[in-house]
Amino acid sequence: MHIRSAVYSFLCIFCLLFTLSAQEQNYPKAIIVPHGGVACSEFNAAQVGARILQEGGTAMDAMVATGMALAVTYPFAGNIGGGGFLLYYHAKTRKVTAFDFRETAPHAATVTMYLDSTGQPIAEKSRLGGQAVGVPGTVKGLAMAHHRFGRKKWATLLQPAIKLARYGFVVDSAFYRSIQHYQKALSQFPSTRQIFLPNGQPPQPGTLFIQLQLANTLSQIARKGPDAFYTGKIARLIAHSVQQHGGILTVEDLANYRVKERQPIVFNYRGYTIYAMAPPSSGGLTLLGILKSLEAIPLAEQYERNSAPYIALISEIEKYWYARRNQYLGDPDFVAIPFQQYLSPQWHQKALQRAIRLRPYPARKMSAYRAITGQEHPQTTHITIVDASGNMAVMTYTLNGGYGSKLIAEGTGILLNNEMDDFTVKPGSPNMFGLVQGTANAIQPGKRMLSSMTPTLVLKNGQLIGGLGSPGGATIITTVLQVLLNKLDYGLSLAEAVAAARFHHQWLPDSIIIEKGGFSPHTTQQLTRWGFHWITRSSLGDVQAIWKTPEGWEIVSDPRGSGFPVGF
Ligand code: DON
Repeated sequence: MHIRSAVYSFLCIFCLLFTLSAQEQNYPKAIIVPHGGVACSEFNAAQVGARILQEGGTAMDAMVATGMALAVTYPFAGNIGGGGFLLYYHAKTRKVTAFDFRETAPHAATVTMYLDSTGQPIAEKSRLGGQAVGVPGTVKGLAMAHHRFGRKKWATLLQPAIKLARYGFVVDSAFYRSIQHYQKALSQFPSTRQIFLPNGQPPQPGTLFIQLQLANTLSQIARKGPDAFYTGKIARLIAHSVQQHGGILTVEDLANYRVKERQPIVFNYRGYTIYAMAPPSSGGLTLLGILKSLEAIPLAEQYERNSAPYIALISEIEKYWYARRNQYLGDPDFVAIPFQQYLSPQWHQKALQRAIRLRPYPARKMSAYRAITGQEHPQTTHITIVDASGNMAVMTYTLNGGYGSKLIAEGTGILLNNEMDDFTVKPGSPNMFGLVQGTANAIQPGKRMLSSMTPTLVLKNGQLIGGLGSPGGATIITTVLQVLLNKLDYGLSLAEAVAAARFHHQWLPDSIIIEKGGFSPHTTQQLTRWGFHWITRSSLGDVQAIWKTPEGWEIVSDPRGSGFPVGF
């Protein structure tokens, strides 16, 4: 065992040193391949998925292997202790299936659980440690989707992740910097400190990072299936750790967790058919609203892409749809979603007319500006995979904040989410992403918190042509929107469409966020003259996308992020 492990480690170091040097030598962020491949935010995990595809696995097989590997190599957002959404295009039937494995509020959750005695939100409570944890869905979600669309054995698909955890992978500078950035928060919990801060320091670049507890947990999930996570010893350890740190999640909550198959949101846009995630994600309906509002005008003819008039128009339309998002959307099993209004041309026209009426955007009185709290790093992660038969899987999954609640369940190696912060902690108070939400998304036991995650598929004449998604909290929807507009309206290549500068408006706070250095001073000055308040952020999103071209599949990892595409 010892020798085997040493040999394996040696091979790992050898292979991964090659990997590192590939990155240093400007390994491309976009490739075109004949058969299939993987776009995700971490190279080891992308390689794992591509290998499964080469060995005849379906896109779903590769998604399980990549998703599990990311839980090891990209603990910042890859996870088994979180939740997400997955859309699958099955080439043979040309059908799209949507899986919802979003976290749920524990049974003992209450609407006021994050408020102090004066009714004010205690931000830390919904974001850090045991109290922030929702019931995780990832393992059951992947298992259910695999059951439907996988070909290879579940246990086989988990082996690469188990090996990466047991024998380690070489720490690169991105991994080191990420742990260093979160060092203070991660050091608060002994179970987390022990793993991510051995000797009190982040693992050094060039060293092997081994996670034995996680390897054992994954081995049990491989052997016994998802029940190993939701019942028995692992479930007891999760519930125990959460409760020890002030939380309310129980073994019953875990045992009762259910994945839901949802009708995806589907709509036409300029002859394309777009499939996106239904509530409890706000992504599909908000994307639908914005695109259907824009569809009434010949956008590319009338507006220069990323010019001031373009930013003004789209920001105004985004405001309209984010206001509706925050007022109406929540878990469809708990609140009535106004699907019909979202589909009605009246709402689409209203949003467009409201935006156009403002032309030429006279200065308007700005409502009070509230800073968006939190991060500049996209803390969720998206994976897009296409296989040689043309099946495609798009999955966005998350722990919510970077490293989630920062709490590792003692003895399991599992980082737990802080997804509870996505609920409306208090109507009118902004959450981690500055989203000001209403009672439709209030906390209730068993309810799913509203999400912005937007895994998306695009079809033309019934045939799949592309898929994409991104992290970025509230900015996910507008990130996906802009890549789609760049591609479908402005005809850019996928690489250009992803690389292009981005902006974002979410109604409140009343500011446009624009990517630093992405827009000319002329453009921003014009926006200021028209009365828009804008702020900069170093980057928005980390798109992972695949698109059909005459030459093959174009696979793109966002130049803003740490991923590299792998295909064959
Ligand atoms: O579900 C959501 O919308 C959020 N929990 C996603 C979090 C995220 O993208 C973090 N990245 N900035």
